[in-house]
Amino acid sequence: MKILGIDTSCDDTGIGIVEGSKILANIVASQTAIHADWGGVVPEKASREHLNVIDQVLEAALTEARLELSQIDAVAATYGPGLVGALLVGLNYAKALAWSLGKPFIEVHHLEGHIASSLLAAEIKPPFLCLIASGGHTSLFVVNAWGKYQELGKTRDDAAGEAFDKVARLLGLGFPGGPELANLAAAGDDSAFALPVPLKGQKGFEFSFSGLKTAVSVLLQKQPDAKRADVAASFQRVVIESLIDVSSRAARALEVETIVVAGGVAANKSLRQAFKKAGLNAHFPPFALATDNGAMIALAAQYKLTEGSNWLRDAQPYLPLDASLRSSASS
Ligand code: KG4
Ligand code: ZN
Repeated sequence: MKILGIDTSCDDTGIGIVEGSKILANIVASQTAIHADWGGVVPEKASREHLNVIDQVLEAALTEARLELSQIDAVAATYGPGLVGALLVGLNYAKALAWSLGKPFIEVHHLEGHIASSLLAAEIKPPFLCLIASGGHTSLFVVNAWGKYQELGKTRDDAAGEAFDKVARLLGLGFPGGPELANLAAAGDDSAFALPVPLKGQKGFEFSFSGLKTAVSVLLQKQPDAKRADVAASFQRVVIESLIDVSSRAARALEVETIVVAGGVAANKSLRQAFKKAGLNAHFPPFALATDNGAMIALAAQYKLTEGSNWLRDAQPYLPLDASLRSSASS
């Protein structure tokens, strides 16, 4: 089956086409330049830009896949979580496309898209742990069976990607900050500054990154001449340490060996190396699928083909992963 997936949950217009685990096309129109001057995503601008480019992104995806629209077997789209105006564009576009083609429409939870992209490289069977670290979320789940997520813990405040973006801003870097900070950190000494490891010594599986961001801010005020690359590397090391500490304790406590890491922060190369070095059996998405894209939504849709089309599904800006399963089961 050839499935077309659309993601417009934030500031990227992504349309991908997959057949099984094969990615036939994956086009992402980035809005980075549009939001750069504001230092963050402006929701209204994001929705308008999705509308402006979505037709062209669809054309480009079909061209890349060498397919006609009539050869698509199902259309999937993210229905949440995300910016409501932005979600509505992709969701309604997908429904209209599926309806006009007479093909099924499949609703997908954005985070299930990220998870599906991390399952590509190897055959992974439940139970496994799933760490989601993106711009909007940082949570650890245990997956006991396909589609059954139990949250072990989440961030009390900022998401890991959000912390990368905010600290990048403190360091005078561009937007989005994660990749820029990671590049700068590569030239720095990650033991130059002893920043506090969040929630050190906790017994639970929670995260917290806003205190770390504040610690960087205080450091920069006290030492305005601190080498930026050293600050970036020290900050990045502590974020990674925190993600690994929580994940490895959960793996031991639940006796689950495999961990799937998903979300934009999974693009971080130092994070990938550190998980391997910690002896965790960790799986990551291919780099091209780490940040938001449409192919991951089409990949996740394959697990939901039997659910049927829910044409009345509305955009849901707030949508915890476990709650989405309860609501889709009852709708
Ligand atoms: O999953 P994603 O594309 O969008 C959300 O659903 O949030 O994640 C975007 C986040 C941003 O905060 C971005 O700065 C971060 O992922 N990110 C990174 C890297 N690439 C993207 N953070 C650290 N290192 C990277 N290489
Ligand atoms: Zn995402």
